[in-house]
Amino acid sequence: MLGLFKRKCLWEALTMGRVCFSSAISTGRLQDKVALITGGASGLGKAAAREFIKQGSHVIIADIDPETGPATASELGPNAHFIHCDVTIENQVSEAVDFAVTRHGKLDIMYNNAGVTGQPGPPGIAELDLDEFDRVMRVNVRGTVAGLKHAARVMVPARAGSIICTASISGVLGGLGPHPYTVSKSAVPGLVRSAAAELGRVGVRVNCVSPFVVATPLVLGQIGAYYPGVGRARVEEVVRGLGELAGAECEEIDVARAAVYLASDEAKYVTGHNLVIDGGFTCFKHLEFPTPDQMERK
Ligand SMILES: NC(=O)c1ccc[n+]([C@@H]2O[C@H](COP(=O)([O-])OP(=O)(O)OC[C@H]3O[C@@H](n4cnc5c(N)ncnc54)[C@H](O)[C@@H]3O)[C@@H](O)[C@H]2O)c1
Repeated sequence: MLGLFKRKCLWEALTMGRVCFSSAISTGRLQDKVALITGGASGLGKAAAREFIKQGSHVIIADIDPETGPATASELGPNAHFIHCDVTIENQVSEAVDFAVTRHGKLDIMYNNAGVTGQPGPPGIAELDLDEFDRVMRVNVRGTVAGLKHAARVMVPARAGSIICTASISGVLGGLGPHPYTVSKSAVPGLVRSAAAELGRVGVRVNCVSPFVVATPLVLGQIGAYYPGVGRARVEEVVRGLGELAGAECEEIDVARAAVYLASDEAKYVTGHNLVIDGGFTCFKHLEFPTPDQMERK
């Protein structure tokens, strides 16, 4: 009888131990990391913020939008904070990085995601407004450089960190966006390689993601401008049907999960990489041969 009692106690102890043990190891993939996400108030940045928090991270949303930014932070809960930041103003990027470090004592992840598409095309290159070109480059390239620079400022002494930048399929193929946008997004993987070459020597990783078209406010606004009078739902339907990979569409969560991977220790040996999330769109073209029937009819 005593033996049975002892065995029961032992079983309970083991079972409880197992429960305690499993809850101790079921931490998030970004547990206790500190992330700063530029352009985190909306679209891809907001989705990344949500996913980072789900994976145990604290997130600072650095965005130019004084309304959506705080609203997003409060929607995402106590592990999200907002700081107003225009990435084209270096001081504000510097302050955002310092805010993260002051608040949490470190910066593990810098996600340079803020971006603009600029005016929807045309014009053709012969009519290109160079002020508009500069405006897009200031946000998409200079803003990314500023983020990289100030993240490096605090990550190099720590000899650790993951910097992620948002490029685009427009940086892989020409013709998918207006010229300034295509040029700006082509620069991002180059910037990533350049910084990775230096920062790899001190253990800081630098990568980028290149998403396919995702139906975010940015894209719906831009594509909707081509179709005045057409409802947002119809524009969204068109956007969601643009991909090549059958049975799936590119969603915000797909890009967020790629960013989680690059931010996490699972990617500890990945640097200088451009992770293209496009369902194969930039990998291939199909040769459209006529069917045998069509061939004979000619
Ligand atoms: N949505 C897509 O299909 C797609 C595809 C490839 C790449 N991208 C890139 O993803 C990034 C996010 O785009 P999105 O689609 O989520 O757009 P979005 O408009 O939904 O979000 C962009 C965010 O960046 C902020 N922002 C704009 N200018 C800023 C500045 N100067 N300083 C700080 N914040 C600024 C905006 O306020 C907004 O919150 C961009 O770099 C974009 O080029 C988007």
